[in-house]
Amino acid sequence: MTRITEQTDVLIVGAGAAGLSLALRLADRANVVLIGKGALTEGSSRYAQGGIAAVLSDTDSVAGHVEDTLAAGDGLCDEQTVHFAVERGQENIRWLINQGVDFTRRKKRRSDDSFTEYHLTREGGHGKRRVIHAADTTGQAIVESLEQKVRLHPKVTLLDYHIAIDLITTEEADGSSTAVGAYVFDRKHNRVEAIAARTVSLATGGASKVYLYTSNPDTSTGDGIAMAWRAGCRVGNMEFVQFHPTCLYHPDAGSFLISEAVRGEGGKLKLPNGQPFMARYDQREEMAPRDIVARAIDSEMKLHGLDHVLLDISHRSPDFILQHFPAIAAQCEAYGYDITSMPIPVVPAAHYLCGGIVTDLKGRTDINALYALGECSYTGFHGANRLASNSLLECLVFAQSAAEDITERLQRPQTKFAPIPHWDESRVTDSDEEVVVAHNWDELRRFMWDFVGIVRTDKRLKRAASRIALLKQEINDYYGNFRVSNDLIELRNLVMVAELIVRSAMQRTESRGLHYSLDHLHKSDTAKPTILTPEKPNKPNKPGKSDK
Ligand code: FAD
Ligand code: SIN
Repeated sequence: MTRITEQTDVLIVGAGAAGLSLALRLADRANVVLIGKGALTEGSSRYAQGGIAAVLSDTDSVAGHVEDTLAAGDGLCDEQTVHFAVERGQENIRWLINQGVDFTRRKKRRSDDSFTEYHLTREGGHGKRRVIHAADTTGQAIVESLEQKVRLHPKVTLLDYHIAIDLITTEEADGSSTAVGAYVFDRKHNRVEAIAARTVSLATGGASKVYLYTSNPDTSTGDGIAMAWRAGCRVGNMEFVQFHPTCLYHPDAGSFLISEAVRGEGGKLKLPNGQPFMARYDQREEMAPRDIVARAIDSEMKLHGLDHVLLDISHRSPDFILQHFPAIAAQCEAYGYDITSMPIPVVPAAHYLCGGIVTDLKGRTDINALYALGECSYTGFHGANRLASNSLLECLVFAQSAAEDITERLQRPQTKFAPIPHWDESRVTDSDEEVVVAHNWDELRRFMWDFVGIVRTDKRLKRAASRIALLKQEINDYYGNFRVSNDLIELRNLVMVAELIVRSAMQRTESRGLHYSLDHLHKSDTAKPTILTPEKPNKPNKPGKSDK
């Protein structure tokens, strides 16, 4: 018998900014189970540096934030979604402040209730200062405040080290599917359990671990996207992977991010001989959107055969630098670089996936009672390139709107929990070749970096596609024969997401936003999102059967 550990109104998979916000917004109205696959809140949100973009100053406007978002998105943003998210920025920042998030204040404080007391920083693509932040550890400030609240809430059950494997769905008479729970691997007890739920929300974050070099933590393996795809949801714009221009270059730094706010506050990109170069690429120089800056760095590195370029903010006073970027300064110091007196070496790394599970403005997916929000979703907000600091905003806004829809859904007359099919382990044994998993992880991430990176060609994409097909076959055979483990679950998802990225990239025969192809340098007159539709959902509860 499959152990059903919980029966709940709301199952939220993922406890980053999106999942935590959703849990808190629903907790007074429903029973919530919130799961994280490692330590509860480990995920990208915790590492966010720059801040959250919102219209908070008297000199800014919704129209200005909308315009900048659309410009960065390069013709592919959904305008309705952009208005929806930007208009809700201010109330969501207020909500965070009410949850106890202590944003950095200006030196001179005003006593009124407006946002004028807060310091707003600048980042690439923003025409105004509109990024509210907690020094350079904004994500940590948010996650810690929200986590403290959910931990105290009597109606929220927290399950850490629980990794969701697959969604459980039932078929309706009209042919549609409804989510009724998820199979979950309890990493502490090494067993698969089921959680039955009236609604399931995926808030599993991004997939940048599919690349060898990334700013993301280990959690970003695209699990929610792969689960939703296997269950029958469409995905959109998967080719648009954002490479952050500036991660610290050091063999031990593990792609530590150097916030765009460093450039926003005057940091200059330079060649090793001290020459700045951004003016040759864009008149906004260091403040151009990320796709342009990352490509410029990539091009200079290739042109001059460099391992890295330099980022220099040492012309600002040490006091200013240490007040605004204390964590970055400390991290650089640990690697032997004094950011207050010298330029630091930087390189681009995979940072953010603009595409994901297709949703509407309420976070609803193609499956009844299944929601997706945060980085795993595709709402149309980011288009072909996300504007800096718009991601946390999206997490908050869609947590708010999904919470409203879930509340309404739960008010309808309730039926009994659907029966949960057994997790079938009758045909699997313990793995005798863990090395296969480790090897395939490494191989996948390396060729994705080499063939599906900042600059693409048809030939490289084809190479990646054929390697993915082989790997996928091998991984699915392995998945079919052996008991699941955390690494195997993640690898199965990563190869799925890699396939979706490459398929989408091959369909885009133009260069737009983050997708830049040497074989298709033009931009088409009409901008169309890439929407992929799965053929037919797999039955998830048979590990002995291969994926399609
Ligand atoms: P995450 O915060 O990544 O959380 C995902 C959660 O899902 C985790 O709890 C994880 O354990 C869980 N999970 C995943 N898979 C499973 C599974 N199978 N089962 C159970 N749980 C699972 N954006 C901004 O707007 N401003 C910034 O300043 C900024 N700075 C950034 C700096 C860095 C270094 C990075 C990496 C990103 C930054 N971003 C920033 C992007 C932004 O942080 C992320 O897009 C956003 O935090 C994603 O939030 P999320 O809640 O969707 O996912
Ligand atoms: C940064 O601080 O540069 C990251 C901001 C973001 O990803 O939006």
